Amino acid sequence: MSGFCIEGGYSFEGEICVQGAKNAVLPILAATIINGGKNVIHNCPRLRDVEKTVDVLRALGCRVVPLGNTLVVDSEPMDKFTIEDSLMRQMRSSIIFLGAIIARCGEAVVSMPGGCEIGIRPIDIHMKALERLGIEITEEHGYILCRAEKLSGAHIHLDFPSVGATENIMLAAVCAEGTTVVTNAAREPEIVDLQSFLRRMGAKVSGAGTSTIEIEGSARLYGVDYTVMPDRIAAGTYLACCGAAGGKILLKNTNPGDMTSTLSCLSGMGAKIRQEKNSVYMSAGKRLKAFGTIRTMPYPGFPTDMQSPFLALGCTASGTGVITETIFENRFQNAEELLRMGADIRVDGKTAVIVGVKRLHGAVVQARELRGGASLVTAALGAEGTTTVMNAEYIDRGYEGFEKNLSMCGAHVARIN
Ligand code: UD1
Repeated sequence: MSGFCIEGGYSFEGEICVQGAKNAVLPILAATIINGGKNVIHNCPRLRDVEKTVDVLRALGCRVVPLGNTLVVDSEPMDKFTIEDSLMRQMRSSIIFLGAIIARCGEAVVSMPGGCEIGIRPIDIHMKALERLGIEITEEHGYILCRAEKLSGAHIHLDFPSVGATENIMLAAVCAEGTTVVTNAAREPEIVDLQSFLRRMGAKVSGAGTSTIEIEGSARLYGVDYTVMPDRIAAGTYLACCGAAGGKILLKNTNPGDMTSTLSCLSGMGAKIRQEKNSVYMSAGKRLKAFGTIRTMPYPGFPTDMQSPFLALGCTASGTGVITETIFENRFQNAEELLRMGADIRVDGKTAVIVGVKRLHGAVVQARELRGGASLVTAALGAEGTTTVMNAEYIDRGYEGFEKNLSMCGAHVARIN
């Protein structure tokens, strides 16, 4: 078990080159198995979830060679279609392999993903959508068994624009006969990145980024070189860290166009922001204004993954802020820890009311999930005294070189074991 020890009160000054997007690289790595060729994927963040995805690829028979932030995936030798329970449990998003394995093998067996730290996370939307493509699904002893004589294109309307379900359909439909049209599809930038990867390997996909995605199946596919998009959530977290500490930061290798709701919220709080094509500069005074109301929504609304760092930011902003979490039910676990640091937060179901205090103070706090954990570090950077954030492993799931990046901006952060 490791943790972060943070001495608060040092203002920010520096630049960070933002990592590749965790939520984009996972479906792209799953997609490599469809083409049965050699893929070179650049800008892969070095994270535990990416390592687990590599474990899944290897367990399926693919050859994977890591070269720094590049992964070479040869899916030609893939000879299995089952993901064992032990691997599935380590990373819930392995469910994304379902569509890809069926596309390649016509059958797939994966263990039920179950719940996770931020909520129950059911997979009913995935299952209903895959059935529409002609896949027979049964459940046995905690495993999901999928089989398709033939994958056939279909019109699939999603009851909710689930990111994972949209990706699963895109992956399966690439090898279906005929055209698949997904309506009420998720519009997240990571879906656009998956479309770009699929197109590069020869698939005919269009419409990602809008609510309607069209996939014409059965094109000839081949292995490709691809560079993963920048991580908009990691970028937003570093901006929140700068906001909490005060000071200035330059983010490189980032796409401000994917971060509009986050950037406009920070501007509303009084931070000065300058955007260029691939960078964001932000400067913030010692105390920001409260953000008013934040309601998490599917893209292009305010991202659920960003609300935790903003909850931390709201703790010392001047005035009162309200956050309503509409996507995941357990995303206020960090509030309890922030209270230990002197925050004034009241949580009632899906809503948190945050009354800004002048300063938080250091305490020993526990990360219980990825983004909530990052929010505790955010809060600690502006707090008086020393904070120990336990269970850094959760934070390591989403941020490559977190403490190194923060230290390069003048923060005093050390990893402890
Ligand atoms: C992805 C992201 C995650 C982000 C989330 C929402 C990855 C690896 N993870 O997760 O970081 O927070 O999008 O932007 O990309 N739901 C159902 N049934 C389903 C599927 C989803 O009820 O079959 C519900 C979920 O419980 C949740 C909501 O729909 O309440 C959104 O889930 P979804 O968009 O599927 O998120 P993920 O793809 O799991």
